Amino acid sequence: AQDKRESLYLVSEYANTYFKHILHKTDKGKSIGLSYFKERGFTEETIKKFDLGYCTDSWSAFTDEALKKGYKLEFLAETGLTIDKGDKQFDRFKGRVMFPIQSMSGRVLGFGGRILTNDKKAAKYLNSPESDIYHKSKVLYGIYHAKQSIAKEDNCYLVEGYTDVIQFHQTGVKNVVSSSGTALTSDQIRLINRLTKNITVLFDGDAAGMRASLRGIDLILEQGMNVKVCTFPEGEDPDSFAKTNTLEELEHYLNENAKDFIQFKASVLYEDSKNDPIKKAETISDIINSIAKIPDRIKREVYIQECSRIMDISEGVLFSTLAQLTQKEN
Ligand code: CTP
Ligand code: MN
Ligand code: MN
Ligand code: MN
Ligand code: MN
Repeated sequence: AQDKRESLYLVSEYANTYFKHILHKTDKGKSIGLSYFKERGFTEETIKKFDLGYCTDSWSAFTDEALKKGYKLEFLAETGLTIDKGDKQFDRFKGRVMFPIQSMSGRVLGFGGRILTNDKKAAKYLNSPESDIYHKSKVLYGIYHAKQSIAKEDNCYLVEGYTDVIQFHQTGVKNVVSSSGTALTSDQIRLINRLTKNITVLFDGDAAGMRASLRGIDLILEQGMNVKVCTFPEGEDPDSFAKTNTLEELEHYLNENAKDFIQFKASVLYEDSKNDPIKKAETISDIINSIAKIPDRIKREVYIQECSRIMDISEGVLFSTLAQLTQKEN
């Protein structure tokens, strides 16, 4: 099994080298892939740092080359780089720009590939499937390049996507990782927890996505970590914001707008339900559910007091709801 995993690592490393070669050294790679990244505002240095690449828009150019080099179809298929149809093989990432996903120690585990057109029928990003080396619930994009800064700054920014991570680095904020579009997991939080107790979750500027993600954040509270959240203006995400602002402006924005998670959630829920008594009851149990996840009793009590103020509900009601919940768990 160890041998097999080593073979999967090797074929992934080869693919990474190949996609970079195509991007930097071939006419198509340069005119299509490299110019795409440059139009997005990535510098040559950034493109190299994140090992970005390009997979040619042909059915099996990558797979053919890998087989010729002696990599086995079995491992190409298991990593998902090749789709094996028995009599024919296809490149999964055909015609996409490539973002390699690295482990904490810098090994390539899998890839995200972005389509270049605005074809709404095709998935914008394709990702490697689960394999013996790639478990998406245990990986954070960017952790290899961020780990030192996360420890040094004693804070980790958590963003939605690949390009948010990359553009933050280019602007000069390096303590940043992404769960890459999937709901945050406890394993991912544990990776951060080893480096800092402080997480700041950055939401793309669309209200629906932000509300949907609020629940996942309880997993961070459960691990006793401090959570702040920060939203961006409507239509902006960390990538677009960082691209159009200087480091000083970005840092200023983050410092001004990062709010304590419980206070933020209480005010969002209050806004949503203040004119609706039935919704207000749901809101109380929702916020108390989050507070109940906090291991520290003193912190829980401070939050109850604050939420009582923000949501205009008596402390007594909040404390008794909390007591019911924590009783059930013990
Ligand atoms: N994602 C995905 N598949 C999709 C759409 C999104 O895997 N079809 C993941 C990607 O990791 C993406 C993240 O979810 O980076 C956030 O999605 P979104 O905000 O839509 O994309 P951006 O990262 O902003 O990408 P871009 O700026 O290239 O449009
Ligand atoms: Mn690198
Ligand atoms: Mn988004
Ligand atoms: Mn986005
Ligand atoms: Mn974006």
